[in-house]
Amino acid sequence: MEFASASLKDRRSNMIDSSSTIAIPAVDAIPRHIAIIMDGNGRWATQRYMPRVAGHSKGVEAVRTMVEACIEQGVRYLTLFAFSSENWRRPEEEVSILMRLFMTALEREVNRLHANDICLKVVGDLSRFSAPLQEKIREAEQKTASNNRLVVTICANYGGRWDIIQAMNRLRAAQPQLTEIEEQHLTPYLSMAYAPEPDLFIRTGGEQRISNFLLWQLAYTELYFTETFWPDFGRAELRAAILSYQKRERRFGRTSEQLLDSKKAP
Ligand code: IPE
Ligand code: IPE
Ligand code: MG
Repeated sequence: MEFASASLKDRRSNMIDSSSTIAIPAVDAIPRHIAIIMDGNGRWATQRYMPRVAGHSKGVEAVRTMVEACIEQGVRYLTLFAFSSENWRRPEEEVSILMRLFMTALEREVNRLHANDICLKVVGDLSRFSAPLQEKIREAEQKTASNNRLVVTICANYGGRWDIIQAMNRLRAAQPQLTEIEEQHLTPYLSMAYAPEPDLFIRTGGEQRISNFLLWQLAYTELYFTETFWPDFGRAELRAAILSYQKRERRFGRTSEQLLDSKKAP
């Protein structure tokens, strides 16, 4: 693995417009951006003869732990898939419980996040949420907007296809004269344009699929799958995922030999 030596401040300023397909990004021992599909809440509860909702409540606790663990490890961006654009297909009761949990978690956690210098963002098609929930989200984002230690993004009613299409529509509205669209035209309109592409993707719960998560942004992300259910995913499990990441050779299309040569260069 290739380690960049740039200071944290340099890296933050360089990252925003980084695209793994336009330029080879800097690679650090600690992933700058970790994106997680928090899966397995329902099965965690069912195994314990508990209702699925008990798994979701436990899942909220695991989020709290993960935020702390990412700060301890020096991760700068943590992105969590909380509700997919396809999760509306679930029983109405489960959906409404999830919405209520989201609302209470926001109410309870925002001050703590703010006190810890954490910036909170929520991305996805928020128009389908209730007006009070949308309002809470806006308030939380505004309150924590200038915080710097860690950026936590919650993907809610998010879908990778939705993201690409909404970006395309916003680009078309802003620049109708464009006939030939290139990557750098589109990326500023993607919902996570403020963050570098994820270095490490984690999916808990045993399934090995993307489930319409960050389709565009995962182009060169290292993928890590674990059987562990989300409520059981804690500090030790995060360390194991980072250890696996550190053993990967991120070539971004190059050969191993080229990678070795680039490390030798002054
Ligand atoms: C992930 O856990 C949480 C959400 C999708 C909201 P699941 O609810 O998908 O748990 P399993 O996969 O059924 O165990
Ligand atoms: C993906 O989990 C979405 C979230 C964790 C929010 P799902 O449990 O909905 O995914 P599938 O249906 O197994 O692919
Ligand atoms: Mg699931």
